[in-house]
Amino acid sequence: MLDLWYKNAILYCIDVETYMDANGDGVGDFEGLTQRLDYIAGLGVTCIWLLPFYPTPNKDNGYDVMDYYNVDTRLGTLGDFVEFTRQANDRGIRVIVDLVINHTSDQHPWFQAACKDENSKYRDYYVWSKEKPEDADEGIVFPGYQKSTWTYNPEAGAYYFHRFYDHQADLNITNPQVREEIQKIMGFWLAIGVSGFRVDAAQFLIEVRDNQAQLDVESPYQYLKEIRNFLSWRRGDAILLAEANVSLEELPKYFGDGDKMQMLFNFIVNQNLFLALAREKATPLVEALKAMPSIPETGQWGHFIRNHDELSLDKLSDAQQNEIADAFAPDKEQMWIFDRGIRRRFAPMVDSDPRRLRLAYSLVLTLPGTPVINYGEELGMGDDLSLEERNSARTPMQWSNEPNADFSTASPDQLVLPVVTEGQYSYKHLNVVDERRDPKSLLNWMERAIRMRKECPEFGWGTWQIIETGNPCVFAHRCEWRGGVVIAVHNLSREAYTVTLELDDGDTERLIDLLGDQPYEAIEGTSHDVQLKGYGYRWFRVGSHHL
Ligand code: GLC
Repeated sequence: MLDLWYKNAILYCIDVETYMDANGDGVGDFEGLTQRLDYIAGLGVTCIWLLPFYPTPNKDNGYDVMDYYNVDTRLGTLGDFVEFTRQANDRGIRVIVDLVINHTSDQHPWFQAACKDENSKYRDYYVWSKEKPEDADEGIVFPGYQKSTWTYNPEAGAYYFHRFYDHQADLNITNPQVREEIQKIMGFWLAIGVSGFRVDAAQFLIEVRDNQAQLDVESPYQYLKEIRNFLSWRRGDAILLAEANVSLEELPKYFGDGDKMQMLFNFIVNQNLFLALAREKATPLVEALKAMPSIPETGQWGHFIRNHDELSLDKLSDAQQNEIADAFAPDKEQMWIFDRGIRRRFAPMVDSDPRRLRLAYSLVLTLPGTPVINYGEELGMGDDLSLEERNSARTPMQWSNEPNADFSTASPDQLVLPVVTEGQYSYKHLNVVDERRDPKSLLNWMERAIRMRKECPEFGWGTWQIIETGNPCVFAHRCEWRGGVVIAVHNLSREAYTVTLELDDGDTERLIDLLGDQPYEAIEGTSHDVQLKGYGYRWFRVGSHHL
C-alpha cells in the first residue's frame, strides 16, 4: 500500500517574516506563526511550506542564506522552530522548508573564506573564472535589476558566477565536498522534523558551466537522484517539491522513474490557466493539460494560482503575454516585471470579482495534482505596487482591522513591509476576523472548498481525462481512483451555458452535486445536462452515494 500523503495534501505557503509578529518588533516570527496554527488547521491545510527563514542579509527575501543550520534571529530560535513543527504535527500538519542550495549569500562564511584565500578548501565551493566570460550578460534571471551573471571580486582576484543577484554566489555541485555539505543540511532539517523540501531553482542547481569539472555522474539529472536517495534513506515519507520552470520536454527528467523529485510545480499549466482566464476560454488550459507528460505513480504536480514571486509568463509567446497583461496588468509600467510577468496578487487582477476568484481557486483545487495556496490568498488579499520589485505581493497577513492589521504591535514605520492601508484591499475592510464573520466571504468559501477537496482524493490520486463538452469556454474533467469517480465542470466565460457531458457508458448513474457556485439538485437519470452560470463551476460525484 502506498502512503503518498502529498497526493491528497493542501499546501499552504508562509513567509514567517510577514505572517504574525509575537514580540512586537515589526517582524513576523515563529512564535507568532505557532499562535496562528489553529487558524491554519481550521482552513484545512495539511502541509505548510516555509519560505527561507535562515540567517540572511535579506537582500532577496531570505533566498540569500548565510547559515544553513539556524533560524534568523529576527524570526526566533531553533528552539522556536522545533516547537512550531511539533505543534503543527500535533494538528496533523506537516512542514516542508525551502532548500536554497543553488547559491549562498556572499556573506556566507564559505564565500568569505573562498575570496580571502585561493588555497582555501572553500575556493572550489564556488564557480570562478580569471577572465570575464563572454556570456556574462546572458541568462540574467532578474532583467532590469541584475546586471550580469559574473562579477569580479577584488579580494579573490577573479570573477564568480551567480545565476541570480550578484550577492548570491552559485555553489559548485561538481565538488563532492559541496554535495556532502548539501546532504548534511538536508539531514539536519530532516532530523528535527521536516517532511521534505521545496527545492529552490532546481534547474539552475543542476546546471554545470563549461569550465566546471564535469559531474562524476552521467548527467546533471543524476544529481537529483542522488539527493532523492539521501532524502529517502533518512526519512522514507519525506518529499522533494522542485521549482523547475522548464520546458515540456525536460519535465520528465525531473521525475525520473519515480526516483527523483516526487513533486514539481506545474508552471506550464499555471501560465496557460492565466491565458484561459484572460480569454475566457478553456482551450489553453485543456491543451496544456493534454500536452503534459505522464508521470510516475509516485509523482505529483503542484498547482497554484500565485506564489511569492512574479507571475512568470515566460513560456508563452509575446502576443499571449500581451493578452494576459491587457486583462490583468493594464498598467504595464507598474505591474510588469523582468520582461516576463506580473507582480500583482491575484485578487486585484480580477478586481476581486467573487465569481472569478472562486472559479480560479476551484480550478486549482480540482486540477489533477495537489493545490498550493500562498498565504493571504484565502482572503483575497491585495498588493502594494509602491513597494520594490516582487515585494508588492508580499505585504503582511491581514488578521483584523486593528492597527497594522494585528500583524504586529510595532509602530507602522518599523514593520518589515508595510500593511496595505489604502482602498478596497486595506486591512480595515479585508481581514480574517471580518471574513470569518461573513458566511459569504472568500475565507469561508475556501474552507468549505478545501474540506470538499480532501473528501475527493480522486482529484489528487486518480487517473484523469478531459470530458468533451463541445463548448470551448467550458472545461470538464473526470478523475477516478479506487472505484470512485468525481467530475468537475468550470465555465471560464462570463456567459451562462448549459453543456451536455459526453460520459462513458460506465458513468450513466446520477451526478451528485458536491460543490458549486450555488446549491443544485443531483442530476438524476442518464441526462448529463449541466447548467452553469457565468464563471460558474460544479463538482460532482458519480454514483449513488454522497460520501
Ligand atoms: C527562486 C525563488 C525566488 C528567488 C530565487 C533565487 O526562484 O522563488 O524568490 O529570488 O529563487 O533564490
